Amino acid sequence: MTSLAGKSVLLIIGGGIAAYKTHELVRLLKTRGAAVRIILSKAAEQFVTPLSLASLSGEKVYTSLFSLTDEVEMGHIQLSRAADLLIVAPATADLMAKMANGLADDLASTALLATDKRVLIAPAMNVRMWQHPATQRNVEALRRDGVSLVGPDDGEMACGEFGPGRMAEPNEILAAIINLLKPRSQPLTGKKVVITAGPTREPIDPVRFISNHSSGKQGYAIAKAAVELGAETILISGPVSLPIPSGVQLMPVETAQEMLEICEGEMPADIAIFTAAVADWRVASEAPQKLKKTSGAAPSLTLTENPDILATISHGAKRPHVVVGFAAETGNVTEHAAQKLKKKGCDLIVANDVSAGSGVFGGERNTVHLVSAAGVEDWPQMSKDEVARKLMERLAQMLVPQNKAAE
Ligand code: PMT
Repeated sequence: MTSLAGKSVLLIIGGGIAAYKTHELVRLLKTRGAAVRIILSKAAEQFVTPLSLASLSGEKVYTSLFSLTDEVEMGHIQLSRAADLLIVAPATADLMAKMANGLADDLASTALLATDKRVLIAPAMNVRMWQHPATQRNVEALRRDGVSLVGPDDGEMACGEFGPGRMAEPNEILAAIINLLKPRSQPLTGKKVVITAGPTREPIDPVRFISNHSSGKQGYAIAKAAVELGAETILISGPVSLPIPSGVQLMPVETAQEMLEICEGEMPADIAIFTAAVADWRVASEAPQKLKKTSGAAPSLTLTENPDILATISHGAKRPHVVVGFAAETGNVTEHAAQKLKKKGCDLIVANDVSAGSGVFGGERNTVHLVSAAGVEDWPQMSKDEVARKLMERLAQMLVPQNKAAE
């Protein structure tokens, strides 16, 4: 018998005759060791009572959005976030329509809109209501939103009609719950991903520096996406003002030399992605004191080349399995990127046009071109988060042959 000890579920009971089956569902969940909190919709109170459900679950049953005590004990947002899984049973046509359209006018629909957890619904309604194009549109929308369904089953209904619309049996719902709660191995579980992000700052004197407009947004989005795919994620970042994505190990740096040193210390890795806008030059010798404005003569700065972090790692003895560079160009984007691909020895270059007016530096969106030995792949404009997710999924696929070779 699979244990659900340590798991917490929020059961949202809709107003339908099948609500009586939720007594058995609560009993099954409790037998497996799950903590069960319950929200009853207004209509559900016509079919089952808070008292019977509180006795079975051993927890307070929530009914109203505007109950002050509930907000003090546990707000509706907290109620939906504290659970590992939300279950809607029976999911009535009305409740599903609210979910599909983002309505939040009572406790049940508000908890469903406020959640960031997985949601399982067990639809139950009259066969004609289930088959109605409006309900089917809602089912489609819910599936697209990542909601899982169990049932409905075929059979005779309380209304005397026959067909699909019966709520799945408590045992079936329990099996779906166990399946959704079981730990999943993600594509990058056990893999290490190192990402550089943001600008570097090359000091001129104690108060001045050379830098650029990188905000770190693209690199931070990639780090977040790497964590979501299960990777151990190291983010080596120049100075930016962004929150640290959850699950990411941040290594803050200032200069290109520091960034290289930390990168080398983090090798070996499975994937390395270089999104940082590294200053190509630094001042040959930083002034120990603030440079003074002397009459007439502007100081002249002697620049020296910074190490190329990407090329050093890519040509180094501890080269990661997959090395990805970025190319920030202002013209002939893919041609220059193809040259960088060869010169810097990477597997892939993500090229973007950073010309004035492109809005890429510091903006929320990016239009990228993937340049590899196989050719150029143009991606449409997307949010930096979407670029990051798509890119990480692609890199996870690129690692698969490496994994096979290692077996
Ligand atoms: O940070 P955002 O505001 O979100 O903006 C994102 C971005 C425009 C900074 C990002 O999408 C991007 O293009 N990053 C690469 C910036 C850059 O320095 O490109 P480059 O063409 O000059 O360098 C090519 C590659 O070599 C890059 O992977 C760079 O990290 C790397 N490099 C460059 C110089 C150097 N000394 N060491 C390096 O590792």
